[in-house]
Amino acid sequence: MVHRGEPGERIFHRARRDRWPRISHGRGCYLYDTEGMAYLDACAGVHVVSIGHGVEEIAEAMSEQARKITFAYGQFISQPQIDLARKITDLAPEGMSRVFFVSGGSEATEAAMKIARKYHVESGNPSKYKVISCWQSWHGNTIGALSMSGRSAWRKDYTPYLLDFPHISQHSTDELEREILQVGAEYISAFIVEPILGTSSAGLAPPDDYFRTVRDICDHYGILLIVDEVVTGYGRTGVNFGIDHWGVVPDLMATGKGLSSGYTPIAATLARDEIYDTIYETAPAFAHGHTYGGNPLSCATALAVQEYVENHDLVARCAEMGEALLDQLQALTGLSMVRTVRGKGLLCGVEFAADAERGTTFDPSLGVTGRVVREAFERGVLIMPGAPGPLDGVNGDHVAISPPYTVTEDEIVRIATVLGEAVEAVERTL
Ligand SMILES: Cc1ncc(COP(=O)(O)O)c(C=O)c1O
Repeated sequence: MVHRGEPGERIFHRARRDRWPRISHGRGCYLYDTEGMAYLDACAGVHVVSIGHGVEEIAEAMSEQARKITFAYGQFISQPQIDLARKITDLAPEGMSRVFFVSGGSEATEAAMKIARKYHVESGNPSKYKVISCWQSWHGNTIGALSMSGRSAWRKDYTPYLLDFPHISQHSTDELEREILQVGAEYISAFIVEPILGTSSAGLAPPDDYFRTVRDICDHYGILLIVDEVVTGYGRTGVNFGIDHWGVVPDLMATGKGLSSGYTPIAATLARDEIYDTIYETAPAFAHGHTYGGNPLSCATALAVQEYVENHDLVARCAEMGEALLDQLQALTGLSMVRTVRGKGLLCGVEFAADAERGTTFDPSLGVTGRVVREAFERGVLIMPGAPGPLDGVNGDHVAISPPYTVTEDEIVRIATVLGEAVEAVERTL
């Protein structure tokens, strides 16, 4: 039967669903629908909200900027844009001091792909264009970003449109080098990777020496390292950027989500000085950009958010609360279908298995992930379904827990308790 949504409603929905609650407002870690139901937002929407919902200072900053100027195109730069670029680069790894503003994470990764390409063109290496990425990674839905992404389930319908980019296994430096040799370094522009996995396998971090080795391989073969910090950026893992856990400086970084905590659509691609200087040593322009990139209202909003994060020391709080959350979630490993609990800061993942000890996965047709998420939703806690098939694109079930950095200890206890109840409810039906 055709899915039409509610009578008279005209939204092109992303999925079939019997009923969509309507959002009314948010305060702190809670969202309220128009029927008065409260939801504890244990996944920050989709790893977005860092400072909590409904913060007055941000509304004030937005309204102040809206009275001055909200939109001006590329004929101008603005003070909020200048200030935000400075703020972001002060937080970023040393030497990443140029910011290209866009409106979302996919635009940010695609801008990184194009900046890398432009860099090679301007450095006299025009044969370099392919971007290597990892299977089951996620870099966004637009065609360039999806070509880099490794989430099989979301690539499938669009395969004919996708660029012929190589994919390797997560966290394998051997495969990275082998792929470069097989394809030919002269065709490889960049390697893109999430420092800690977000939507595809939340909270999964690489071995300690991974990024150092990746950096060495990229340098050796003249390949740029793009780190996708769209989920991990701006404090979510308890440090400013995920890559800071390993002290490696990438060439390009895609950022989004936590930049504005969801108060406005804005994202940003950061580049190392040398990348920018090489492009502008010769090129008259970087032929890329979007209408709303760097608009004054979004920049002023994100600036107010980042100042709030700094003034309330929220990155340190994220690290501290992350430990409390992980502790609480660890208790769930006593449940028979909970296989692994992991995380860094407030980016945690819980993986399920039919036989947790042997790691046998559930039949995908059971839809275990969706059932756990629904059970939690009905109990008023929002958790994020992990993308289908974290292991091979087909098999594996997992959820992500990533509340705002302002989450309290009591709220953490509630999240873990409800998740435990949801898992038990699903276990009973299997
Ligand atoms: C790591 C990562 N990169 C890029 C994106 C794409 O961001 P957006 O959905 O804002 O386009 C996402 C979205 O979830 C993401 O998780």
